[in-house]
Order: sequence, then structure tokens, then C-alpha cells
Amino acid sequence: MQIKGKVVLVTGANRGLGKQFVKSLLDAGASKVYAAARNPGSVDIEAAQAVKLDVTNPADIADAAAKYTDVQIVINNAGALARGALLDASSTQGVRDLIEVNAIGPLNVTQAFAPVLKKNGGGAVINVLSVLSWVVLPDGGAYSVSKSAAWAVTNALRDELRADNTQI
Ligand SMILES: NC(=O)c1ccc[n+]([C@@H]2O[C@H](COP(=O)([O-])OP(=O)(O)OC[C@H]3O[C@@H](n4cnc5c(N)ncnc54)[C@H](OP(=O)(O)O)[C@@H]3O)[C@@H](O)[C@H]2O)c1
Repeated sequence: MQIKGKVVLVTGANRGLGKQFVKSLLDAGASKVYAAARNPGSVDIEAAQAVKLDVTNPADIADAAAKYTDVQIVINNAGALARGALLDASSTQGVRDLIEVNAIGPLNVTQAFAPVLKKNGGGAVINVLSVLSWVVLPDGGAYSVSKSAAWAVTNALRDELRADNTQI
């Protein structure tokens, strides 16, 4: 897919990889980049349009999909990391929290934007997974559970999105 001339939304765009995605998309000629962040005030790339979007907040997601109807590419980059032993029962809530951000978040953002991409002729969704979707590091179980789930979400959505001419 060509980036030049495209309208792209990136989640978790205020720092880390997400910020780099925004810079690279602008460098590659994207016509508009929506830089989504929990705190839009923390987005410091002037050429991008800051957008408030916590991927665990359904109201934020619905609001963004209703407002930014020109989006053609969605990059589900926002993610969280936590360490700890899975056998420790107190880790269960942490596993739920990571699944909420790393798997349900991209799912809900994709559900909301799929009709937007379809209306614009079909587009693309990029889910930022990890090698830890496939392997597990010591004390990294919760993260891998969430990133494996995100991988399965990605694979399951592929067939569904094909009908909209959207790639994932
Ligand atoms: N760095 C790596 O080596 C690596 C390797 C493989 C995969 N990844 C994946 O790449 C992605 C980016 O990683 P990174 O290294 O750039 O991480 P990072 O520097 O920790 O940045 C994480 C980003 O996600 C945002 N975020 C966290 N929870 C959010 C939520 N509920 N709603 C919206 N935004 C939220 C953060 O926003 P705040 O500033 O508000 O916290 C921040 O912008 C993640 O999905 C990560 O799992 C990273």
C-alpha cells in the first residue's frame, strides 16, 4: 500500500514507536496523520493532528471514528508492558489489564474504523504485535498472553475485513 497521499491514524503516537511512525508517515508523504494519545497535549509533532484516544475508552474510540471520517490507514500501536510471575494469583488483574490495552483496544479501534475505511474504498489496519506474541520471556507471561491474543485478533479480522477491501 502506498503511504503518499494517505490519511493515517496512529494510536499511542505521543512517544516511542508511535511517535516514530508519525514522523516516518509524514516523511513518506502521508497527506494527514492523526496522532492519537491518551493526552493529546503530549503530542509534539506540529505537522500531525493531535487526537484524544485512550484505546480502553469506548467513548474516545466512538468519538474519533465519528470525527475522523477521512482515515484510510489505522496503526494500532498503543501498548502496555508489565512483568511478573503468572503463577502468582495477584497477577490475574494485570493480565486482564494488558489484554484490555493490547488486544481488546486494537479490536475495538478496528471495529469502529472498519466502516470508515470501507467507505473510503478499503484501506489497511496495522497491528503492532511482538516477537513475544510467539515466545515467552521469564516474567513476561502476561505481556505474551496479551500479544498472542492480539495476533489471533489480527488473523480473525483478516477474513472479515477482506470483504471491505481492507488489509490487516
Ligand atoms: N519497544 C519494543 O522493543 C517493542 C517490541 C515489540 C513490540 N512493541 C510494541 O510496540 C508498541 C509501541 O511500543 P513502544 O516501545 O513505543 O512503547 P512505549 O514507549 O511504552 O509507548 C507506549 C505508547 O502506548 C500508549 N498507551 C499505553 N496505554 C494506552 C492506552 N490505554 N490508550 C492509548 N495509548 C496508550 C502510551 O501512551 P502514554 O504516554 O499515555 O502512556 C505510549 O504512547 C506497543 O504495542 C508494544 O507492545 C514494542
